[in-house]
This record gives sequence, structure tokens and C-alpha cells, in this order.
Amino acid sequence: MKPAKRIAQLPPYLFARIDELIEKKKAEGVDVISLGIGDPVEPTPQPIIDALNEALKDPENHRYPSYYGLREFRISASLWFKKRFRVELDPDNEILPLIGSKEGIAHLPWALVDEGDIVLVPDPAYPVYEIASMLSSATPYKMPLLKENGFLPDLDSIPSDVLRRAKLMFINYPNNPTTAVATDEFFKKAIELAHKYGFLIAHDNAYSEITFNGYKAPSILEFEGAKEVCVEFHSLSKSFNMTGWRIGFLAGNANSVKYLANLKTNIDSGIFNPIQYSGIKALTDLSDFPEKMCLIYERRKQMVLDVLNELGISYHISPATIYVWAEVPDGYTSDTWAMKLIDEAGIVVSPGSAYGKFGEGYFRISLTVKDERLKEAMERLKNLK
Ligand SMILES: Cc1ncc(COP(=O)(O)O)c(C=O)c1O
Repeated sequence: MKPAKRIAQLPPYLFARIDELIEKKKAEGVDVISLGIGDPVEPTPQPIIDALNEALKDPENHRYPSYYGLREFRISASLWFKKRFRVELDPDNEILPLIGSKEGIAHLPWALVDEGDIVLVPDPAYPVYEIASMLSSATPYKMPLLKENGFLPDLDSIPSDVLRRAKLMFINYPNNPTTAVATDEFFKKAIELAHKYGFLIAHDNAYSEITFNGYKAPSILEFEGAKEVCVEFHSLSKSFNMTGWRIGFLAGNANSVKYLANLKTNIDSGIFNPIQYSGIKALTDLSDFPEKMCLIYERRKQMVLDVLNELGISYHISPATIYVWAEVPDGYTSDTWAMKLIDEAGIVVSPGSAYGKFGEGYFRISLTVKDERLKEAMERLKNLK
């Protein structure tokens, strides 16, 4: 049987392709070091695991969870939000627990856009924005993230007829893959535009807690008028080393939260309660934990930057994320450079072009491997002919 056209049209998911390459090299006996995927190697903090074990003892928690999440989880998310961003959120109408933020990102266009509507998506970007837009029969409009603009979309260059047809705009700062952070002016201008043209901004803040050098990432919901036109995705994955647990939440505009919740009641049955209790533990008692991880990432980042400096490879200077966004050396494309690194050094990096055509000429290094492995990878990079 053939797949549906909507599936057949999809490009292979980026990391599925990288995984294939890793398997191939491993089968050849190569000790592959993967700096491809951003997936913390350190364990989830013990109190979060303990909260899960405790919750598992109660048979009530073995049953179907609520579609809208445990009220205690929504309250803990709203308290965390207030403490972190000084933004008040109504836990009953402005927060929706998600089975990881990816799940919410993938479903949001289904809840908001119709065929022919435009979804504004950055390029390069986390691939789910564009793919989810395509799956929901919307037309993605690419907003290039260029070095000369600090990897922010040039909002002035989007034609007004495109803005009039736009229903949704995805943005993501601190940004994956470029590592860029946004200025307050950028957020304010995006909000102004959303008010003028009547579209929703979906700000993906998955890396809000991974910052260095005194920089604190804002929430878009801090800015005036944001709640009328913005929602924000939050994820416990990178902040609390919980990628495998699948827990995050959507915050902001009450109508959009309601539309997504409505869609989701027809698709999934919520997050396993013990995982929500772990989420409560993380947001309530471990809000300082990300700072400890940031010290580790900062140290690893310096290890990488020292080697890139030595090799004369340029990179974007950023106070955030678990990545380094670097320019491929002359004579290579993103793909040929990434392939050379795998073939000749057994190092996996993400080719920038996999995140969109404006990612061409770049590669992304993830800092989520142990220091010794990163050091070894950097040695191999230095010795590359
Ligand atoms: C920009 C961005 N948004 C969202 C996600 C998904 O995170 P989660 O684990 O919450 O689904 C990722 C994961 O890599 C990401 O890079």
C-alpha cells in the first residue's frame, strides 16, 4: 500500500537520516562521536525520578490522565512562569500541558489554520514548524535568518499580501540551530505586526533556561499586548535533562490554548500522571537546576570555540543554547563538510542545510556529550587533513 500524499511529500526527518549514517559507520567498526542531536547526556535529577516513583505507588495515577493535565501541574507551571518571567498566567485557561513541546508545535497549525492560509516559518529552523504547516495544508512562507540580521527574520521585508494571509508565525529564541537570541525590539515589532494583521505568534522557548554570561532569555509574554496575539511553548526537556520523559506546556493566548486543547482531546489522552508529578517537582523545587547545567555547557562550548578559533572556523557568538553554529570551511557545502567529518573523523555534526536552505554554509555542533568525548572529537577535528 502507498502512503498518503501528505506523508509521501515529507522530506525524511533530519535526525532519522543522521541516525542512519551513524549506524552505517558503527557497523564499519568506527567509534562514532555524535555531536548531532541536542539530547543531554547527564541524568534527570534524582528528586524528579523520586517523584515519579512515589506517584507510581498510587493506583489512581495508573488510569487515564485528564486531557487538560493535572491542575497541580498547570498551577506549578504558572507559578514557575511568574517567578521566572514576572508574567501572571491563569492555570485554567492560559496553560496547556503537552506531551513534549514537539507534540504541541506539530498540532498547533491543525487547530488554527485552513488550507491556503500562510504560516510564517523561519529558515533555518527546527523542522517541525514547516512540516506541521504542510501537514495541515497551510502554505509555509519562509523567513530567512541571515547572519547580517543577527539571525532574526527581517519583518519589514515580508510583503503585506503575505502578512494579510498569515494566520500563524513561528519564532524561536534562543534559537535552534543558529544559537541567536532576540532583542526586545524584535519581539515588540513582531507583536505589533501580529496585532495589525491578525495572526498568532507561536514563540518556541524550549531553550529559555540554557543561557550564559549573565544573559536571561525573556518570554515573549512579558511584552505589552502579547497575550492577545502570542502563545509560547515551554519544554522540560533541555532545562531538566528530561528529553525522554515527554513533558512541556503551552502558555499564553487563552483562545489558542482552548483550540489546541480541543484538537488534542480528539487525538491523545494526556500525559501519564506520574510524569506530571515529576514535572511539578522540577518546576517547583528544581528551578535552579538549569544553572548547574549551564556551567557544564559553557565549559564545553569554550572547548569547542578554542578549537574552532585555532582552525580559523567562524561561528556565531551567543550567550545561549546547547549548540555552536559554525561556518563550513571554504570549498565545502554543509553536506560535504558533514560527510567528511563522519567519514574521516567519525564525528557527526548536523549540516546547516538540513534546517532549511538558508542554513547552507553552516554546521551545528551539539554540546550534549561528556567532556572526554567532546575533547576527543575536537582532537579529531584538529587532526583532520
Ligand atoms: C527549537 C526546539 N523546539 C522544540 C523542541 C522539542 O522539545 P521537546 O522535547 O519538548 O518536544 C526542540 C528539540 O530539540 C527544539 O530544538
